[in-house]
Amino acid sequence: MSSKKPIIEIENLTKTFKSLVAVNDLSLSINEGEFVALLGPNGAGKTTLVEMIEGIQGPTAGDIKISGMSWKDNEDALRKMIGLSLQETRFLDKLTVYEILYLFAGFYNKSRQDALDMLIKIGLADKKNDYTMNLSGGQKQKLSLGIALINDPKIIILDEPTTGLDPHARRELWQILKDLRKTNTTMILTTHYMEEAELLCERVVIMYKGKILADGKLDRLLKFYGAKELIELRTRVKTLPSFISDNKKIKEIIHDKKEKRARLFVDNIADVLPDLLKKAESKKFIIEDLQCRKMNLDDLFISLTGRHLHE
Ligand SMILES: Nc1ncnc2c1ncn2[C@@H]1O[C@H](COP(=O)(O)OP(=O)(O)OP(=O)(O)O)[C@@H](O)[C@H]1O
Ligand SMILES: [Mg+2]
Repeated sequence: MSSKKPIIEIENLTKTFKSLVAVNDLSLSINEGEFVALLGPNGAGKTTLVEMIEGIQGPTAGDIKISGMSWKDNEDALRKMIGLSLQETRFLDKLTVYEILYLFAGFYNKSRQDALDMLIKIGLADKKNDYTMNLSGGQKQKLSLGIALINDPKIIILDEPTTGLDPHARRELWQILKDLRKTNTTMILTTHYMEEAELLCERVVIMYKGKILADGKLDRLLKFYGAKELIELRTRVKTLPSFISDNKKIKEIIHDKKEKRARLFVDNIADVLPDLLKKAESKKFIIEDLQCRKMNLDDLFISLTGRHLHE
């Protein structure tokens, strides 16, 4: 649970690569115990931002403080506080799963037993003596999480921890992370999966072109940015009829003419749909496909930027 004490404070952070601004004058404060999902399309600047928090990349400008400390003079203390898993990890091929966990356990004065316990926690007990190079992609992700957690870090930062995992493995990993919520661990997790953000994180930060586009509790974000529900339909023609485009009960329309697909954002589906279907029938307007749902993060994102989160 969040104790409302800031543990990560980022002020006016910028990172440029030649003329490209990857992170653009970004400020963000994260409280102790908070679970934060960082979302955004490819190239938004998520990895660059988390790697600066992790002390892997230095900022071009701006300031990062973790527990009041900056990386410059507190490298050792901060390394002990933070557990991290990178977007891509390469292990030492000729070490076994157990050996690599034990190696990292040793860095943090943890015991053999701690390494063995972690092996069970991440569900790799049966791979104990396998070389890491022989692990599947998903098993490598689990090992990477195990390494991140071995020193009981106060802060855990995971860059797309479940990308490429099968649905079962993803659930297993989520369970490990959910259990962490009961402790006072702070977590930042980048992801392209809306359900992952919804399930694990109380706070969602949406990044786009190096800046924060939206930040808050998911339900509040969805409420704040207009309608709560939506009707998505596919039509045969590229133009929407006036009974849709001029309908006052539809708060916003995002229309993909090429795909002949329209998202109609509304407050209440039941309030709009019967009339819409009646008009479609009387005007012989053909709806090929129709879906009704509560607005999700991707809908929110598309409404903010006109783009999908996972393009
Ligand atoms: N070392 C680098 N040199 C030059 N450009 C870089 C470097 N690292 C990142 N970039 C650029 O900075 C931008 C942000 O990249 P970043 O990896 O932070 O995005 P991301 O949000 O993590 O994307 P993804 O969802 O694909 O992982 C991109 O345009 C990328 O090409
Ligand atoms: Mg990335």
